Amino acid sequence: MKKFFTLLIAVLLFATSSAQAENFVVEISDIAATDFNTPIEKFYSTLPKAKGNYKSRLRPILIEGAMNIETEVLIRALKNPVTYSELNYLFVAGTYKDYPVVIVRTEIGMANAVASTTLAIKKFRPIAIINQGTAGGHNPALKICDIVIGERSFDHTAFRSAYSAAGAGIDLTNQENIGTYAYDETSGKFQAYTEYFADPTLLNVAKKVADENKNFNVVTGVIGTASSWIECVDYINFLHEKYGSSCEEMETNAVAQICQNAGIPFIGIRVLSNNVTNSREYTPESAKVVQNFVLLVAENYIRDLLKEVSE
Ligand code: 5AD
Repeated sequence: MKKFFTLLIAVLLFATSSAQAENFVVEISDIAATDFNTPIEKFYSTLPKAKGNYKSRLRPILIEGAMNIETEVLIRALKNPVTYSELNYLFVAGTYKDYPVVIVRTEIGMANAVASTTLAIKKFRPIAIINQGTAGGHNPALKICDIVIGERSFDHTAFRSAYSAAGAGIDLTNQENIGTYAYDETSGKFQAYTEYFADPTLLNVAKKVADENKNFNVVTGVIGTASSWIECVDYINFLHEKYGSSCEEMETNAVAQICQNAGIPFIGIRVLSNNVTNSREYTPESAKVVQNFVLLVAENYIRDLLKEVSE
């Protein structure tokens, strides 16, 4: 009997250690990616939980996506993934091309993106942050699945409207963007930024990847962020004309703001899942396209820049 139990324990130990050693493969059916915002808990629960604190000699790249459909391809690409959870945000740490990479599911919207990014900055000390995901087009020349590399971003609700008296009606096109506040190292103070620019190195890497991979339709442009989803084509046209916005979404500019505070190189990269200026379609599967593009950006960034310099 004693022999039987010893054998049973040995078999169990062997089974668990070999399961942890090999790369984790999760079936697409576990993620239910076709359903908008399906809870990812089932998928995450298949990933091993981290034991203890995050430790890496190298500072990781942090890649962000708001929803399960915007993070699944990235997480599958990681070797030896482990999960962390902080304030109910989920982080998955592993390696990609032998370099540490952390994926965070930020959840939807600016407040969530900021909270999860801040936690990730404290916990993982990322060397660079890429925020990516889906967006709605503001430029009629862009089609679903086209990618926008965010050369700059702005908050399209951070505006002061012109005064108009009661009963005069609503015309929000008479407005001035007043920006969002972030730390300026030169003055040592917080100041208003009407836009945030992508880190030049990350921008060059993303442009190079676009040039070398013609299977992706990529433009460089302007990402407009807000807590809103606009389907009023006249207002979209107004934003496009006044601010040059290529697309709208709900996270990029807020993360750019925090990266400005923290002095961390940042870029936002978005794929169009919808564009009401030329169609009424919504294609959540477009999220996969941008994740594959972002993996190439990460690979090039790692290969060209990080291996030597990130300690
Ligand atoms: N407007 C706003 N957000 C959008 N997203 C995709 N398309 C749009 C759009 N047209 C993204 C946001 C958010 C989620 C609802 O999808 O970034 O995370």
